[in-house]
Amino acid sequence: MKRIPFILLALTMFVCLSAKAQAQSSIPQVEALLEKMTIEEKIGQLNLLTPGGGVATGSVVSENVEAKIKAGNVGGLFGVAGPDKVRMAQKIAVEQTRLGIPLLIGSDVIHGYKTTFPLPLGLAATWDMELINRTAQVAAKEATADGINWNFSPMVDISRDPRWGRISEGAGEDPFLGSAIARAMVTGYQQDDLTRPNTMIATVKHFALYGAAEGGRDYNSVDMGRVKMFNDYLPPYKAAIDAGVASVMSSFNDIDGVPATGNKWLLTDLLRDKWGFKGFVVSDYTSLNEMIAHGLGNLQAVSAQALNAGLDMDMVGEGFLTTLKKSLDEGKVTEDEITQACRRILEAKYKLGLFEDPYRYNDETRPEKDILSKDNRALAREAARKSFVLLKNENNTLPLKKDAKIALVGPLADSQNNMLGTWSPTGDTKYAVPILEGFKNVAAGAKITYAKGANISNDKAFAEKINVFGPRIEIDERTPETMLKEALEAAKKADVVVAVAGEATEMTGEASSMTSISIPESQKMLIRALAKTGKPVVLVLMSGRPLTIEEEMGLPVSILQVWHPGVEAGNAIADVVFGNYNPSGKITASWPRNVGQIPVYHSMKNTGRPELKKEWEKFKSSYLDVDNSPLIPFGFGLSYTTFEYSDIKVDHSEITQDQPVNISVTVKNTGNYDGEEVVQLYLHDVVRSITPPKRTLKGFQKVMINKGERKTITLTLTPDDLKFYNGNLDFIAEPGVFEVYVGGNSDAQLKTQFTLK
Ligand code: BGC
Repeated sequence: MKRIPFILLALTMFVCLSAKAQAQSSIPQVEALLEKMTIEEKIGQLNLLTPGGGVATGSVVSENVEAKIKAGNVGGLFGVAGPDKVRMAQKIAVEQTRLGIPLLIGSDVIHGYKTTFPLPLGLAATWDMELINRTAQVAAKEATADGINWNFSPMVDISRDPRWGRISEGAGEDPFLGSAIARAMVTGYQQDDLTRPNTMIATVKHFALYGAAEGGRDYNSVDMGRVKMFNDYLPPYKAAIDAGVASVMSSFNDIDGVPATGNKWLLTDLLRDKWGFKGFVVSDYTSLNEMIAHGLGNLQAVSAQALNAGLDMDMVGEGFLTTLKKSLDEGKVTEDEITQACRRILEAKYKLGLFEDPYRYNDETRPEKDILSKDNRALAREAARKSFVLLKNENNTLPLKKDAKIALVGPLADSQNNMLGTWSPTGDTKYAVPILEGFKNVAAGAKITYAKGANISNDKAFAEKINVFGPRIEIDERTPETMLKEALEAAKKADVVVAVAGEATEMTGEASSMTSISIPESQKMLIRALAKTGKPVVLVLMSGRPLTIEEEMGLPVSILQVWHPGVEAGNAIADVVFGNYNPSGKITASWPRNVGQIPVYHSMKNTGRPELKKEWEKFKSSYLDVDNSPLIPFGFGLSYTTFEYSDIKVDHSEITQDQPVNISVTVKNTGNYDGEEVVQLYLHDVVRSITPPKRTLKGFQKVMINKGERKTITLTLTPDDLKFYNGNLDFIAEPGVFEVYVGGNSDAQLKTQFTLK
């Protein structure tokens, strides 16, 4: 037998010992508990279940779940809410299991709990981080009042594909803005103290790259080079981790052929070793089991792979619960791996203060005062009106007079069921304010005639797919012709027509990908006919994604994009339509001219053959049939007033690597209303070792400027803002010239430059 040199042996021992020391929790109570746990009890902690339907109908948990909790086979639940129901579940865990370990109680609180805020793509359009942070705080306050201590949000997946239904759940196309929003949400949910009864654990999801599914088809494969990944898609997850997010959810897609849930490079090498994440990783809903369908083996094999990769908790599929012991016996996983995953779950429970008081989220008096309070609803109204984007204001039709004669038409004009938007399972449509009601609340003196005018879609089979969570597309018994006639008659008698059209809530969201993203034909017919009446027409457009609206932009109509605005929908829309609030939202994902143009986003590259002139030229990177530019650029949104930009200045024409640079600009409100403007800064790194984007967002500030007023705005570029991941994935800034553009959208022309030495 060969002798192992002593130095090697010592080194190996040192490495093993320090790895073990590293694995130890800094929380002595957690280590003490781990000492007492059997392997089965540890595996039990890795299991997350949802009792589903059992909850709604009374009994707190379905039989099986209850038995599993008692057997110590459950670490957390989701889909259970209400302090009393959660208390019952918690009581079983605490009083009827050997070690009395309390449960994590999860939920999808994506854009508000019961006080539903605009869907995330709408919230992003506010560009107001303080406001977004407040919505997250309120969501946490309401959810924790109902017994929840762990939220499956924020969803920070960058998406440049509006075919993907879940683009509605994120911040859009840009990593700089997406990172700012990720921070605002994480710190809103968690604040700086998880033991407080009104904060909850946040989960950044879906790690990673879920928004880049091929063809925009949900759950589809992702194939992406590392440079793009690190520069464009990973920053918001990283920002959430740096902000202290306590949990991460793995995504459904594969990356380089390995599903995220079993991807060791992703969950360990990157997330833990490189980024230093210390919390726990949960799978997405059965995403562990789905590795079987991905083609990676049977349940035992994929469960072992996921644990080896760094997954800590298995959502719903029970792959960990049913196979890990066997894998341990067969040497496919180690006891250390199981203990480590369990340790992370226990640490989360400890951080929440659950060991000290498992019922800290079960105060029966809280829901009444904390949920859907007047203040919370006021915030929902504020957030909604700030999320609206004025895309076009034909002849300054908007705002309307409060005593106008209005024909309010369209299938979404009085549709309470479609106000909350996708992924609002904790909300309740019965609290939502429909638009007709909002108009009456805000403009009591207006003479309003309502007519449905069209169905959201005339396609019964399509409607069935959309109506899975309740009626969203309700096809009228009357013929489309009769409905149209009624709308045109209302229009005839009115001074102005407000048409509310677009998507039903479930036309975007999970498993709601579309290959055509135009307004459904049934509604297009209504809009065309209204535009022909000669009356001023305001199109209030609802959707959870960018739509292709080239035809509507060409009609003589004004267009106000309102997403799905949440519980205060009608009031907020009326606030903007009648001028109580001057719109200030700006889109955060470019709107394409047509589906064939996808992906189109502001930070595209020049290519070797850029399209330089306005008129078409052969042998350029362009299309024969449409321009390269999107229909509506990233960052665009109008106001009832106008803003003029001038005097761009840079405080240093030359800077060093560790020096920030300040760019200032004067913005004047040149119109007739006070208003807010989102001042945006775009950077172009002119020459560098990997091809730079033509420009990319690197700064913004939302400012209130009164009419006639002029303000000087200063935006600072930090040394990190000039950095990018190069071909070796080093995060560096390279010397040379940087061009800076400042303005009200990504087409900003006002320009200056500086040189990095
Ligand atoms: C979604 C997640 C969600 C989970 C639990 C999944 O289908 O992808 O975003 O958190 O369900 O409801």
